[in-house]
Amino acid sequence: MITSLILASALALVPTQVLAADNGLAITPQMGWNTWNKYGCNIDEQLILDAAKSIVSSGLKDYGYNYVIIDDCWQKNKREKNKELLPDPTKFPRGMKALVDDIHDMGLKVGIYSSAGTLTCGGHIASLGYEETDAKTWAKWGMDYLKYDNCYNQGQSGTPKLSYDRYKAMSDALNNTGRPILYSLCNWGEDGPWNFASTIANSWRMSGDIYDNFNRADPACPCETYDCLLPGFRCSVMNIINKAVAVGQKARSGGWNDLDMLEVGNGGMSHEEYRLHYTMWAALKSPLLLGNDVTNMTSETKEIIMNKEVIAVNQDSSYSPAVRMWVKGDQQMFSGNLANNTQVVILLNAGDKAAKMTATWDDIWFYSQPHVDASKSIEVRDLWKKQSLGNFTDRISLDVPAHGVRMIKFMDSAQSS
Ligand SMILES: *[C@@H]1O[C@H](CO)[C@@H](O)[C@H](O)[C@H]1NC(C)=O
Ligand SMILES: *[C@@H]1O[C@H](CO)[C@@H](O)[C@H](O)[C@H]1NC(C)=O
Ligand SMILES: *[C@@H]1O[C@H](CO)[C@@H](O)[C@H](O)[C@H]1NC(C)=O
Ligand SMILES: *[C@@H]1O[C@H](CO)[C@@H](O)[C@H](O)[C@H]1NC(C)=O
Repeated sequence: MITSLILASALALVPTQVLAADNGLAITPQMGWNTWNKYGCNIDEQLILDAAKSIVSSGLKDYGYNYVIIDDCWQKNKREKNKELLPDPTKFPRGMKALVDDIHDMGLKVGIYSSAGTLTCGGHIASLGYEETDAKTWAKWGMDYLKYDNCYNQGQSGTPKLSYDRYKAMSDALNNTGRPILYSLCNWGEDGPWNFASTIANSWRMSGDIYDNFNRADPACPCETYDCLLPGFRCSVMNIINKAVAVGQKARSGGWNDLDMLEVGNGGMSHEEYRLHYTMWAALKSPLLLGNDVTNMTSETKEIIMNKEVIAVNQDSSYSPAVRMWVKGDQQMFSGNLANNTQVVILLNAGDKAAKMTATWDDIWFYSQPHVDASKSIEVRDLWKKQSLGNFTDRISLDVPAHGVRMIKFMDSAQSS
């Protein structure tokens, strides 16, 4: 009922767009936890069960983090005689189905990982050419989610058509299982998935892999824009944001730009940098997939990932990613429509010194011009301080910390009729 209401309003808002992968999933960006950023290949059944229990007991589940995703290195490295994949028996001694059942019993959903190649990025057996077999296996285990990578793709990339065909094979295979399985395409932005994947996948990675760093340039992530050839890895938070702004318009309900999993809580960034990271992932409507140790979180980490007003921006029923309205040196300003005529605004300071930043009503409602009423008094709420800042007219100026943001919500629109 709720889903059909949301769907109805999505259709009303975007009447000319086809909803993405037609499986009814990811109406708002998916939320959850993934093993990779913290643990890499060092995973097993106990670690995943402990994380799932903590997601429930810490309250993360109640904030919406409901997918527990098992990333690479779960596989046994040989297909069975009937070609099926099995999990590594030392890591998953009870098999996958028993683990999935346990996690389902906690009220959570479960995800799995493979690659649209002959091997995964970690060098394990992958699914190219075995799409139907593997999709059936995952459905049999009760999987609710697939993250599908791009390693060892045998040269089947380089044109949108090659990438589309390779990823569509798995989309069709998942659909053929009859089980709704959220399809998270992970080809690092190659061949422009925001153009070819929106009808076959629920989300698509738009950049090389994130690493736990705010703005360091790394030779492994040579691209500064979304359209260069080597997406790479070890991409900083600012590198990914600067690429993501260009493709924000391609996101829609059911099909989202994936800025990669979160690093909040992993130790490589300051509290303000993590706040900026989380703010922008939320506002650009990326999936919010935690990548930290959820069994042992500091209060600073919890403060960031358990802010329901910020999460509500990500999950808002207007489905609109915030738009970058201007860049002035290290400073950037974003504005995004929210439901009920409200608006989210982000003042981002990537510089090394605190700064006073100003956004005018004309900046914020640029697309409503000439019908912007600068004399309109509007209440502004600070979503990180969780308090009203009072009413403002014409403009708002706020102190923004170094490598930090102010994330505010306008409780009305300055658009006049
Ligand atoms: C499969 O695709 C059809 C047609 O697009 C859709 O109606 C159906 O819900 C899909 N089923 C699953 C399980 O994804
Ligand atoms: C929990 O995290 C703290 C650092 O925040 C660390 O000192 C401690 O060793 C961790 N405990 C466990 C059991 O991992
Ligand atoms: C919008 O307003 C309606 C009616 O007041 C309310 O039920 C709903 O929760 C609001 N939505 C948001 C996202 O604030
Ligand atoms: C403050 O702004 C709200 C809308 O956000 C408006 O309803 C209210 O009348 C304003 N208050 C004053 C004193 O202007």
